[in-house]
Amino acid sequence: MSARPYYIAGNWKMHKTRPEAAELARALAAALKGGKHRYLAAPGFTLIETVASIVKGTNIRLGAQNCAPEEQGAHTGEVSVLQLKDLGVDTIILGHSERRHVYKEDDALINKKVKLALAHGFEVILCVGELLEERESGRAEAVCETQTVKGLEGVAASDLGRVVIAYEPVWAIGTGKTATPEDADAIHAYIRKVVGRLYGEGAAEKILIQYGGSVKPENAAQLMAKENIDGALVGGAALKADSFVPIAMFS
Ligand code: 13P
Repeated sequence: MSARPYYIAGNWKMHKTRPEAAELARALAAALKGGKHRYLAAPGFTLIETVASIVKGTNIRLGAQNCAPEEQGAHTGEVSVLQLKDLGVDTIILGHSERRHVYKEDDALINKKVKLALAHGFEVILCVGELLEERESGRAEAVCETQTVKGLEGVAASDLGRVVIAYEPVWAIGTGKTATPEDADAIHAYIRKVVGRLYGEGAAEKILIQYGGSVKPENAAQLMAKENIDGALVGGAALKADSFVPIAMFS
């Protein structure tokens, strides 16, 4: 067992209206009170203010799922770090596979967002992960290495304490297929090694690496038992308290 805390995050993606979000946030705030891990709820932009008012003062951090690469300006349809800060957001998820593959965000754009978010004091969850064909052709480690190195390019060692990495194999997201705890742990160990090469052993030992991809109450504890898995970034199962709470309260 490492000295690192566990960090269980819910990525609500593009789900829920404000009343639905409020109901879930209230249920989580009540059920996770006294929970011993770190928690995050990342609702869609239009829900953030509603959720903020409920999780304020609780042990649930407030997340956003993306931000613009610029502070402000003529960027129709984008949301800025200044606007997210104004809402009380603590953490921004960046480089999610849906941003990379559906919305074609590349490593350079993601890196720009990472640096901007860190410069504004946010915690960043940098998502990395390989496609099925990349895994099948033996390139999973190389893909995760590139995304990690390029995502962190220019990030100062003094800011790394506010960076969390989420390993989300694309083939496991929303498919019901979970990486085996062994396979996930192997990639986590590899990413940790990459962070060690960039920032030194001490930083590698400290950085939190979440696993994401069909995490459910039934598989959470086995995944978390692995040495290099420090938490979860949960999608589908984060949409209901009934499934998120058992994951968040795993022991
Ligand atoms: P699922 O838990 O639905 O597979 O989604 C994982 C994910 O993409 C979290 O960011």
